[in-house]
Amino acid sequence: MKPKNLKCPFTWETRRPLLTDGVLFVPQYYQNHAEWGVLNLEDPEVFKRPAPVVVEYCSGNGAWIIEKARQHPEWNWVAVEKRFDRVRKIWSKARNLKLENLLVVCGEALEFTRYYLPSQCLLASYINFPDPWPKEKHAKHRLFQGAFISEMSRVVSPDGVATVVTDDPIWAERISHAMQKTQEWRSKFAAPYFVTEWPDYGSSYFNELWLEKGRTIHYMQFINRIIS
Ligand SMILES: C[S@@+](CC[C@H](N)C(=O)[O-])C[C@H]1O[C@@H](n2cnc3c(N)ncnc32)[C@H](O)[C@@H]1O
Repeated sequence: MKPKNLKCPFTWETRRPLLTDGVLFVPQYYQNHAEWGVLNLEDPEVFKRPAPVVVEYCSGNGAWIIEKARQHPEWNWVAVEKRFDRVRKIWSKARNLKLENLLVVCGEALEFTRYYLPSQCLLASYINFPDPWPKEKHAKHRLFQGAFISEMSRVVSPDGVATVVTDDPIWAERISHAMQKTQEWRSKFAAPYFVTEWPDYGSSYFNELWLEKGRTIHYMQFINRIIS
């Protein structure tokens, strides 16, 4: 199966939320998400069998999550990626490996989380090398803002974790600050709130790229507090 075998199932005019062939399409620039309803993660059309669910946001070409889904068939995995060309790559890898515990979401992270995920449905979430958008004029594109951080807390189980990996020390500090200034998240690691070694964490396209360039990888992990 090649990436190009996955076809976009609608035109711009007919775009709508659609689950087909192991991919949930969550169209962007679309107003009627709420009409589709929340995703039933126990529906056999979503996953062949019920299991704890782990999400990776910003999956890129899927190298990290494909390997994790292979290593951990006892969990169900969700890859969220907004670019269709990258979704196709994840989908073809999953198809070729016959992975039945991976759902690919073609959509934007906050919209998918807000409209499609039930509360406390996730064991954990991962974000590997989120786009930093360093220029202030692009700040609105940054993922780690209040709405996403709070939605992630709603969908991760109490005491579940959010793990974030970045090569950028400034971005590491900003994410850590943004997470910990909320009531919901506290760092698993003491100050400076990251570690630079994590054996067996897994690798990804951007992980390889930044290691080749001699960058340090910052691994952060935050625990979702139980808010009573
Ligand atoms: C720097 S790449 C990292 C890809 C992959 N995690 C890796 O480590 O190789 C960031 C990816 O996040 C995706 N992305 C950025 N913002 C997103 C969002 N709000 N929702 C979903 N995907 C997003 C981009 O399309 C891109 O593929």
